[in-house]
Amino acid sequence: MRRIYFDNNATTPLLPPVLAAIEPCFIEGFGNAGSIHQVGQRARAQVEAAREQLAAFIGARAAEIVFTSGGTEGDNLALFGAVQPCDHLITSAIEHHAILASTQRLQESGVEVTIVGCDANGVVQPESVQEALRPNTKLVSVMMANNETGVLQPVAEIAAIAHQANALFHTDAVQAAAKVPISVDEIGCDLLTLAAHKMNGPQGVGLLYVRRGTLLQSRQLGGRHERGRRAGTENLAGIVGFGRAAQLAVEWFANGGQQEMRALRDRLEQGICRTVPGASVNGGRAPRTPNTSNIAFPGVEGEGFVIAMDLQGVAVSTGAACSSGATEPSHVLVAMGLTEQARGSIRFSLGKQNTAEEVDIVLDMVPGVVRKLRELSPAWAGK
Ligand SMILES: Cc1ncc(COP(=O)(O)O)c(C=O)c1O
Repeated sequence: MRRIYFDNNATTPLLPPVLAAIEPCFIEGFGNAGSIHQVGQRARAQVEAAREQLAAFIGARAAEIVFTSGGTEGDNLALFGAVQPCDHLITSAIEHHAILASTQRLQESGVEVTIVGCDANGVVQPESVQEALRPNTKLVSVMMANNETGVLQPVAEIAAIAHQANALFHTDAVQAAAKVPISVDEIGCDLLTLAAHKMNGPQGVGLLYVRRGTLLQSRQLGGRHERGRRAGTENLAGIVGFGRAAQLAVEWFANGGQQEMRALRDRLEQGICRTVPGASVNGGRAPRTPNTSNIAFPGVEGEGFVIAMDLQGVAVSTGAACSSGATEPSHVLVAMGLTEQARGSIRFSLGKQNTAEEVDIVLDMVPGVVRKLRELSPAWAGK
């Protein structure tokens, strides 16, 4: 059976040049970047080259890049590293659980927390952040692009509001990376999280950008790796692959990749909305990443749709990968005011490997799957 992967917001496949860059790291170039002998120094040089590549990717200085094990660790390090008991933290209801669960733990340990909502399009309103500010607000954390809807957030505006109140600004840019260009100076952020596996790099590696002069308490205790900000031997192969993935993303932007991806996504989205009665795009009126389409199918049970598509070889998702399989409606869609609709919403997320032919195969498949599921739905029967 032909397999079509439309769940690239969960994770992306390695691009072949990334795999080619990584392979030697496991054989002749396997050193510990902390060792002073030549094997170690070669590894160090590779880590530092990747640091430069990633710094260039987001317009940062190499010394501002802290390698981590991925998006979750980067988000945890940003929040726990910047905030202390009695400080006030502002974040939003549409964040990934890496932020929301950290926020909850911080609150339990005496940090004051405000969680602001979003509008019906899934956009966090800068005014709501402005209104939430307190004299002791230490950090504002709002994601750059939402993982479920792809909706881009007004992060530059929110960063400016945070800075006017002398607070730091963090953004989780995991789902924005390699889909829209990122400039830490244009955003004006102090902290920014990335994960390699969402941008055709390997799983288990990411980074936290820490603007020069930002005080951050390290979470992991051990050696003086990453200038004392993150203890633990660097993941050489992961970091090298991450750097290569960033270089490829820069080339992709330069070659019109964004426009091509958006055209493919629009073809999918418009095709579905044309052929499936009642289908609508969640967050469709807001600016979005070019690869993500979150579509509500009234009268359909989301998990059933994912399984039915999977049986025909197509991987899609009901939302965040970690909550797929749970029957809870998406907290993001609920924050947008969608209740019943949230249960029948599906995320289609395209990647650089997807083709127009694959989109057309999926377009042929979706109306039949929806029809069958609606026949099983008591609420929909007879409509
Ligand atoms: C917005 C966002 N932040 C953080 C994460 C967590 O990243 P990781 O899986 O690399 O820990 C994800 C993963 O889905 C995400 O989408």
